[in-house]
Amino acid sequence: MNVSHITLRQFLLNEAKLHGLDLDLVLLLEDLATTCRIVSHQVRRGALFQNLGAMSSTNIQGETQKKLDVIANDAFINHCTNCSRVAALISEEVDEVIWIKENPRKGDYLIYFDPLDGSSNLDVNLSVGSIFSIIELKEDIDQTNETQVLRKGSEQICAGYSLYGPSISFVFTFGQGVNGFTHQTGTGEFRLTYPDLRIPEDTSEFAINASRYKLWDDPVRLYFEDLIAGKDGPRGRPFNMRWIASMVAEIHRILVRGGVFLYPVDSNNRELGGRLRLLYEVSPMAFIIEQAGGKASTGTERILDIEPKTLHQRSPVILGSKTEVEMAESYFK
Ligand code: F6P
Repeated sequence: MNVSHITLRQFLLNEAKLHGLDLDLVLLLEDLATTCRIVSHQVRRGALFQNLGAMSSTNIQGETQKKLDVIANDAFINHCTNCSRVAALISEEVDEVIWIKENPRKGDYLIYFDPLDGSSNLDVNLSVGSIFSIIELKEDIDQTNETQVLRKGSEQICAGYSLYGPSISFVFTFGQGVNGFTHQTGTGEFRLTYPDLRIPEDTSEFAINASRYKLWDDPVRLYFEDLIAGKDGPRGRPFNMRWIASMVAEIHRILVRGGVFLYPVDSNNRELGGRLRLLYEVSPMAFIIEQAGGKASTGTERILDIEPKTLHQRSPVILGSKTEVEMAESYFK
């Protein structure tokens, strides 16, 4: 092992010193890392403990919950509430805000999370992950008014994800760049393996669920057609396509080697506003991508500037390498 792979705690204490981070935030991030380790452990033993199947319940999105969705959700609730400044949790799997404090005060934290993203991959033993985001209250709020947790992505003070792949990655930003850690089996430590991730500005790789081609609006269809036209098309070069059907895995690939990820509004999801959820999927990823030098857009608007109207609101998304996102946006003009 490379000795320069410092541990998560060493890194966090250093960041706290450098950027004046609150110790509560540092401890909360350690709790989130512990949660992700626990979720990963449950995911890995899922098939052996008959935890891969579906529950009889559905979540607010009308999706059938997997047993592991519920297990992962419980892990977040149980392990992210140690910090006395956690005011509320907002989860993909729970219809309403989970209030932890009766009188949330200025300086308290709201935590948004998707406990297990890409869970359709579970039954086939492919990568899944967890996504989280933290917002610090700038004023006291009223616990009875749920609209007060509807915050713009630009208010995030921290966002991250953990990818449960061949190894566990834990990647996050405090708004001072993006750093990625790998879990070291045996010691249980997360070690810094991807310091200061920067997304290459240009790319020749894209990710989209192309089976929805007929459902797309013209700008997306035209953009896609130009990409696959390759050397003889207007882009003058070949593009490679990837689709893992797990947003965390797609974003991790893009952070490491560049690319663009699209999940647009189409004629099947228009009424819902798209496929992916704004507060605990799209916004945290947009913050991470921007912090790594990339761009995140709906096609017509910066993701981080969207004013959310509902807790489980959805949003179209195009994010990744800057010039390619700008190219995709140009088709919407
Ligand atoms: O949370 C939704 C999600 O599982 C994402 O992780 C993933 O990018 C997408 O849905 C997959 O969508 P589809 O079912 O269209 O492939």
